[in-house]
Amino acid sequence: MSYQKIINTGEIVKNLIENHVKPGDIVLDCTVGNGNDTLFLSKMVGNEGKVYGFDIQKKAIKSTKELLTKENSIENVVLFNDSHENIHQYIDEKLNFIIYNLGYLPKGDKSIKTNSISTINSIKQALELLNYNGLLVVTVYVGHVGGPEEKQALGGLFLTLDQKSFNVLKYDFINQSNNPPVLFCLEKSGKSNKSFK
Ligand SMILES: C[S@@+](CC[C@H](N)C(=O)[O-])C[C@H]1O[C@@H](n2cnc3c(N)ncnc32)[C@H](O)[C@@H]1O
Repeated sequence: MSYQKIINTGEIVKNLIENHVKPGDIVLDCTVGNGNDTLFLSKMVGNEGKVYGFDIQKKAIKSTKELLTKENSIENVVLFNDSHENIHQYIDEKLNFIIYNLGYLPKGDKSIKTNSISTINSIKQALELLNYNGLLVVTVYVGHVGGPEEKQALGGLFLTLDQKSFNVLKYDFINQSNNPPVLFCLEKSGKSNKSFK
């Protein structure tokens, strides 16, 4: 890893995706926003793979569709204009990679954002769908109202995960100013069927 690779959580996430996601994988983007992560995932899984995506805002789904169409990468993507709290209503297959990029839509309405209750409900479902050896990554922004609560709630949930079932890593830029985001990365180990301690 070169120096520039750990400059921010976005670069680390990109690295994790490049190292983990393979052609043919089935993956999930729980917060598609403007579609940047969805596009990257679509390119990584290729025509044999599939990307599911959720966002509560029509505007986000629309801009994601536009980006994917422009990049000729929409064929393997299935988008839902619904809350990621409802994953279980749409997906019943195992997933190799799941991503959450929490907060609000960049350049959008800052009052429409993820919150700790729905995020926790969603992540509990996502953990069930994750394949053994699958990765789940969550970027949490703490500079806006509700962000610190979301980070605390997630940290609390992840602390209760059984270490025989999950490895949980927290990336925290402890020497950066202006409330840098925190990244959690979870790997499902498959050594136990018990998710929680
Ligand atoms: C930081 S943005 C995501 C940016 C995106 N990863 C990208 O590459 O452009 C967070 C997104 O989460 C969405 N969101 C908020 N609450 C949600 C929920 N309960 N279910 C699904 N999406 C939600 C917002 O509408 C917003 O578009």
